Amino acid sequence: MPSDCAIGIHDLSCATTEFVLPHATLAGHNGTEIGKYHVGIGQQSMSVPAADEDVVTMGAAAAAPIVARHGADRIRTVVFATESSIDQAKSAGVYVHSLLGLPSATRVVELKQACYGGTAALQFAIGLVLRDRRQQVLVVASDISKYDLDSPGESTQGAAAVAMLVAADPALVRIEEPSGLFTVDVMDFWRPNYRDAALVDGEESITVYLQAVESAWKDYTEQGGRSLDEFTAFCYHQPFTKMAYKAHRHLLNTCGYDTDESRIGRAVERTTAYNRVIGNSYTASAYLGLAALLDQADDLAGRPVGFLSYGSGSVAEFFAGTVAPGYREHLRTSAHREAIDRRRTLDYAAYRELHERSLPTDGGDHPVPQQTTGAFRLAALRGHKRIYERR
Ligand code: HMG
Repeated sequence: MPSDCAIGIHDLSCATTEFVLPHATLAGHNGTEIGKYHVGIGQQSMSVPAADEDVVTMGAAAAAPIVARHGADRIRTVVFATESSIDQAKSAGVYVHSLLGLPSATRVVELKQACYGGTAALQFAIGLVLRDRRQQVLVVASDISKYDLDSPGESTQGAAAVAMLVAADPALVRIEEPSGLFTVDVMDFWRPNYRDAALVDGEESITVYLQAVESAWKDYTEQGGRSLDEFTAFCYHQPFTKMAYKAHRHLLNTCGYDTDESRIGRAVERTTAYNRVIGNSYTASAYLGLAALLDQADDLAGRPVGFLSYGSGSVAEFFAGTVAPGYREHLRTSAHREAIDRRRTLDYAAYRELHERSLPTDGGDHPVPQQTTGAFRLAALRGHKRIYERR
């Protein structure tokens, strides 16, 4: 039987970039029939970071409203999940800790396993709160999805951060035991340390994702999880929103259910609204799906939601969360819409210039051009050090 120790997501806040590229603009450049983007992969536009934005600035922007609302007195741990790391040694979380002025009596760490890292951070945070229910853990999942120009992956780029406050008696979602787990060593998607853009075997990555859905679900049921019919909605990792539909169709098939399209739509459509216009945000993606679901759906109080987190390479986890009574009073719906709507639209040439841009590596003193109008920015590189600024 599922068990609920009443620990979970107490607050959830999303942030994205200064710029956006509509898929229509990309299609105009490469001659792709727009239906392939809008319908075939289910993407409308992609968030593009400004020259002075990165995973730290997005992570700080997502986390700042949480600290403003709850204070930092009970936050003893910050876990930063990313696969767009800016340093091989120092955690991006330490920069966020500093930008937000968190107390020095805090442990801070960065976690990585492709897109699965956000879920690893959430589960580790729950373990820490279980040990001491007075403590809160700030989880930040922040990523920039970047592929080579004119490659098949290009249309699935995106960028965003989600910050979650994990606490006992959460106001939004109580996370349950058990989890269904799956790991297999495959090369479906990876990014060697010397590369800025990821490498991917697109078709293989979809096949392995679907295998992972099936295997994580099988383990979940063997561990005594809920039956499929109990779930109101499913938050899948969304490299592109059509993947959530593929994944749910596969899960229904696995369980011997009829794969009726309107049934699939009811289970996943509401989770796709933000990912559809932001693109792949790797570690943040499944939780952007949760934010979209909570922000849009009718009253979900007391209803179980399924989560399927997938990270290439590959690791997957299926688990359930129950939406808390009164959760609607704690949502940040208008801030989320504002973060999406305020993005400035790029033309193709400006997008390409940003894509091709790389930071200097000579250790000199380099101011970074001011482009973002957000609260946090990468102001300069000085002696191989990143200098951030809060406005
Ligand atoms: P592609 O070769 O550009 O596209 O690759 P395609 O030919 O496979 O077409 C895509 C869909 O559009 C197909 O639908 C077409 O039929 C349809 P499907 O058969 O899949 O249902 N289509 C059209 N529909 C309507 N009107 C049209 C039209 N034309 C075609 N005119 C691919 C697509 C996703 C593989 C590529 O973009 C890619 O390589 N992306 C990156 C990899 C990726 O996102 N993989 C997903 C699973 S792995 C994962 O989720 C992990 C990840 O997030 C990383 C991590 O864990 O860190 C990536």
